[in-house]
Amino acid sequence: METLLINNISEIKKSIKDWKKLNCSIGLVPTMGALHKGHASLIKKAKEMCDKVVVSIFVNPIQFGPNEDYDKYPRTIEKDKNLCEDIGVDIIFAPTPKEMYGENITLSNTELSFVCPPYNIVDCMCGKSRPGHFDGVATVVTKLFNIVEPNYAFFGQKDAQQLFIIKKFVKDLNINVEIIPCPIIRDYDGLAMSSRNTYLSEDERKRALTISQALKKIKSLYSNGITNANILFDTGISILDKNIELDYLEFRDFNTFEKVDKVKENTLVAIAAKVGKTRLIDNEIL
Ligand code: PAJ
Repeated sequence: METLLINNISEIKKSIKDWKKLNCSIGLVPTMGALHKGHASLIKKAKEMCDKVVVSIFVNPIQFGPNEDYDKYPRTIEKDKNLCEDIGVDIIFAPTPKEMYGENITLSNTELSFVCPPYNIVDCMCGKSRPGHFDGVATVVTKLFNIVEPNYAFFGQKDAQQLFIIKKFVKDLNINVEIIPCPIIRDYDGLAMSSRNTYLSEDERKRALTISQALKKIKSLYSNGITNANILFDTGISILDKNIELDYLEFRDFNTFEKVDKVKENTLVAIAAKVGKTRLIDNEIL
């Protein structure tokens, strides 16, 4: 089956209207492209659950800060199209920034309406070192929901804070979509799959591996009855490569996103760190 590549909003809306007339269920997998096995797992899940599947590929300028990697973010549309075709995706929606936002495309655009989730969940963890990032994510995801009108939308647990924020604004704003969380897919060596892994040199990749190793060790200590977050934190730190720049290692309740001192079931343990110039994130739910 051929996957249709659509760049403009009015055209995809036509297909969506036709599908709705036929009572088809629609699944949306929002991505920024450079697709890998992590994305593929979301797309496969969407295929299992829905009559029609749309994958959006859009490197969203308003979720990148001025000193981040917007310009050099990998863009591999031909390869992405093959992957989507192999899985049986119906439509790839790949708009230009101008199609999505008009002319003034910056995070500080004061003429654009933004979706702004509550301060306490966007200004911590990744949001702390990436100001405005989650407003940019919430805004683009809301626009995609309004364009594609999916019954189900699929998001990876890899971006745990993003997933939490999306669930929250969907509920708060009564958006008519069911959010389906999908587990983290890892490479053969344990490194969480990410489009940004392509930036890593061989040596950096070795150092990056200590992130998933630290999480694994914390998980195993917790399984052996250690629940004190300070002790688990220190162990995690001792495993992380000394040359990587830790942004955070935090323990949060995955249902409320509150910080926890005593780890229990459903505690999210999350790490963000820079390896060379590459910012990586990973997590485990205990
Ligand atoms: P992107 O980083 O391309 O990720 C798209 C989706 O794939 C997200 O839901 C992410 O959590 C999921 N994903 C990435 N790596 C994964 C892995 N190793 N295992 C499982 N799922 C994985 O996240 C974004 O794009 C953007 O912020 C977006 C939501 C598209 C808004 O622009």
